Order: sequence, then C-alpha cells, then structure tokens
Amino acid sequence: MKLTDPKMLAALPELDVEHVSGASLKDRTSLGIGGSTDLLLIRRHNSLPALITLLHDAGVAFRFLGGGSNLLVSDGDLPWVVLQLERQDPEVLLEGNMAIVDAAADLGRTVTFCAKHDLGGMEGLIGVPGTVGGALRMNAGAYGMQIGSYARQVEMYRAATGEIVTLTGGDIRFEYRHTSFAPDDIMLAVRLELPSKPFREILQGIRICNEKRRSSQPLNQKSAGCIFKNPPGASAGRMIDELGLKNLRVGDACVSERHANFFVNLGEATSGDMLGLIGQVRDRVQHAFGVELENEVILWPAQ
Ligand code: EPU
Repeated sequence: MKLTDPKMLAALPELDVEHVSGASLKDRTSLGIGGSTDLLLIRRHNSLPALITLLHDAGVAFRFLGGGSNLLVSDGDLPWVVLQLERQDPEVLLEGNMAIVDAAADLGRTVTFCAKHDLGGMEGLIGVPGTVGGALRMNAGAYGMQIGSYARQVEMYRAATGEIVTLTGGDIRFEYRHTSFAPDDIMLAVRLELPSKPFREILQGIRICNEKRRSSQPLNQKSAGCIFKNPPGASAGRMIDELGLKNLRVGDACVSERHANFFVNLGEATSGDMLGLIGQVRDRVQHAFGVELENEVILWPAQ
C-alpha cells in the first residue's frame, strides 16, 4: 500500500514518524519472505495513539511489526502499511533489580546488558531473535524459563481504548507461548524484576544455552524459529522427525535437517511455498499421531 494523502504525509514528521516508501518485508523478517508496503518508523513512542488515530481517520489499514523473527508475511503488494518502533537510546534503564526496557530493544542485547550489571534469570533467552516487545507479547521462553515470569509492569498501547496504559504483572496472564494481551495491543516498555547474580555465573549459563542451541537449531539459516507450538506433553520437532520429514521441500521452503520444527528458507522461498510445507507437515502429523499442530509462527496474509 502506498500512502499518498498529502495531509497525512505532512502530519507524519510532526509526530516524529519516518515514512519509508515501498519497504520490503523480505528484508525485515528473519524468514526473508514477504511483499512490500509503506513503513512508518515511530521515533517518539508516545506518538503512537495520535498516529493510529490519523490512520483510522484516513481509513488506512495497518499492522504492527516487532523484530520480524516469528512471522510469515504474504508476498506481493501488501494491502496495509506497517508500523514499527524505532530503537531508543538508551534502551534499558536499571533501578536496583528492576530493568526498565523499551519494547523495541533487541532481546539478546538486553539479556547481555543486564548480565553485565549482575542481573540474571534470562540466560535461556540468549539467541532468541527479536525484540523485547515481541518476546513479551508471546511470552517467549527456552531452557525452562519464560520472559513473563519477570514482568512486573507493562506499558502498552491498548487498542480497545486508543490509550497508553500501564498494567501490573498480576493483570496479565502469561502462559506457554501465549499471553492475555489483545491481538492489537502494542507493547511499549516493560519493567522486569531480575534476580541478582554475579556476571561470571550468568555468563556460564549463557554459554551453556548458546552451545545447546547451536548444536540443535539451524542458527545460520533463515527461519522463524519453531513453526509449531509443542502439543501438551510432546515435542512437535520430534514427531516431525520421527515421520522422516527432515529435508521435505516445497519450492525453497524446507524442513531443517538440524531441527524438524524449524522450516528454513533456502533462498527464494515464497510465502506460498512455506504455507504449503506447513500444511503438508500438519496433515502428516495429524494422520500419523492424531494431533493437530498449532502454529507458533504468526501469519500475515494479504487481506
Ligand atoms: N527432537 C528430535 N528431532 C528434532 C528436534 C527435536 O528428535 O528434529 C527431540 C530432541 O532430541 C529432544 C526433544 O525432541 O529430545 C525436544 O527438542 P528440543 O530440546 O529441541 O526442544 P523443542 O521442544 O523442540 C522447545 C522450544 C524452542 C526452544 C527449545 C529449548 C517450542 C515450540 N520450542 O523446542 O523454542 O528453543 O525448546 O528450550 O516450544 C521457538 O519457540 O521458536 C523455539 C525454537
């Protein structure tokens, strides 16, 4: 979608919003798949409500992009614009055991920054790509921990009221790869309470998790992490592997040889290729195990 309304284009700089015309989402998602549309980069995060009102009033559809690491976007000309928060400087403020983190902050960098200040707990999240806001909204987790356990306060744009609100930890439900945020809520900042630990101890934990991840996941290939959620008490990766589906291909979309719940883009995969592969694998697992796998990856179809 191309923004052409001169009144809207003139209003954007006043809100400290940068307009990138015809941005390719291929370049902004870890899968390297996606069509093009106009991108609005929000430098001043509290201008989000005014920006959304502007878009609503002009009848412009939009979607909100975090780090793009858990996302499968449709190809071609996309019928909505994309909003994204620009990185802030600094992205993390520390107050004792509290880390106040901007939603656009890189998750890995945040874990390392906190570690250097003797705040641990998030070692398992090292190597999880994406932003802190994205990790929070889906309650990212690995190696026995999840980010929601540390969230004490969340500042967010609540779409239902069009306002920025602050929720305390008790107001939010964090479950396995799921939270009680509404789908159109937008994370702005989080206050994490982290346990004190000496840097060297945290570093050791980080090294162990890094090593486990390197040996079991295809980190140097384009992917969206795990495609499916694990069904209760089972591993989607193991089930797909047991069916011999590693290396199954549709076009350039391929089930990873290293971890069967990672589907990688070998080069020029389209969203159709990836959706085809997801459908085939889901059907095979359903047929063999009677289990309907649920997507962990978020789909942005062109509609
Ligand atoms: N396994 C296989 N073949 C495979 C993959 C896994 O046999 O191709 C086996 C493993 O040997 C292991 C079991 O399945 O015995 C579980 O595998 P793994 O430890 O890799 O964990 P997972 O359940 O596949 C989950 C998360 C990952 C997270 C890891 C480590 C989900 C859907 N996946 O994977 O998160 O990194 O644990 O904690 O919850 C993600 O969410 O995108 C993600 C990658």
